[in-house]
Amino acid sequence: MTEEMDPKQILEWYMLAGVEETAGDEPFAKIEVTPVVHVATPVRKTVEVSEARQATTALSQATQNACQNAREQCKNAKSLSELKSLVESFDGCALKLTATNTVFGDGAENARIVFIGEAPGADEDRIGKPFVGRSGQLLDKILSAAGLERSSCFITNILPWRPPGNRTPTDGEIAVCLPFLKRQIALIKPDYLFIMGASAANAILDVQDSISRLRGHWLEYTDEDGRKIPALASFHPAYLLRNPGQKAKSWVDFLRLKQKMSEDENK
Ligand code: URA
Repeated sequence: MTEEMDPKQILEWYMLAGVEETAGDEPFAKIEVTPVVHVATPVRKTVEVSEARQATTALSQATQNACQNAREQCKNAKSLSELKSLVESFDGCALKLTATNTVFGDGAENARIVFIGEAPGADEDRIGKPFVGRSGQLLDKILSAAGLERSSCFITNILPWRPPGNRTPTDGEIAVCLPFLKRQIALIKPDYLFIMGASAANAILDVQDSISRLRGHWLEYTDEDGRKIPALASFHPAYLLRNPGQKAKSWVDFLRLKQKMSEDENK
């Protein structure tokens, strides 16, 4: 305690020391005391937070740059084969490092229907084509039961690279790869999109909803040229393999697609 300290400082000093009452004439209330807030200085934590923040910022900046880069490059692709080469040489998505093959869309360049899944699995990664594993075999069966030729459709995924262990792709991975899918749709100019699974539906339709709510009615996708394409979302074949009880609903979705196709033909 020094003589220079003013009464307010002295009071604060007493309060810090744990004194809660005075015995003098002057009540505490008359003296304005700024509340003493004990702030611990979390030195290490501050450093960690700022490092984490810097890393997150750098990561999101890198993702944004990769998205921008993908969008720019896609503009130059005037055909599916040009786009395929471009995707194969694209280095902005780390999934490529762990994948065996780039799995670009497959099918007819002038397809009326584009089927969209999430990402290649182990079989697709090994062979380099979409929907060739168990999910693909189920899709083939449904297509043939619906009287649709696989070779006259175009089948693709949101991601052209398999996420390790088939994990769910991150938002960043989806965002970086989405321009490739959008360019495929813009080049094919299909009449219909059939989207399999919530991940694919949410990404391409830019919504955030469950597949149970998204399926069962016609939605709309607007392509890069402003063309509106009717879109149906439905269960992913992998989900149907795990939940065969849902196959009937999926079948109804395929019938809905067939019905619209025949209605549109008769217009
Ligand atoms: N699941 C998908 O979403 N796509 C494939 O190509 C294979 C399985």
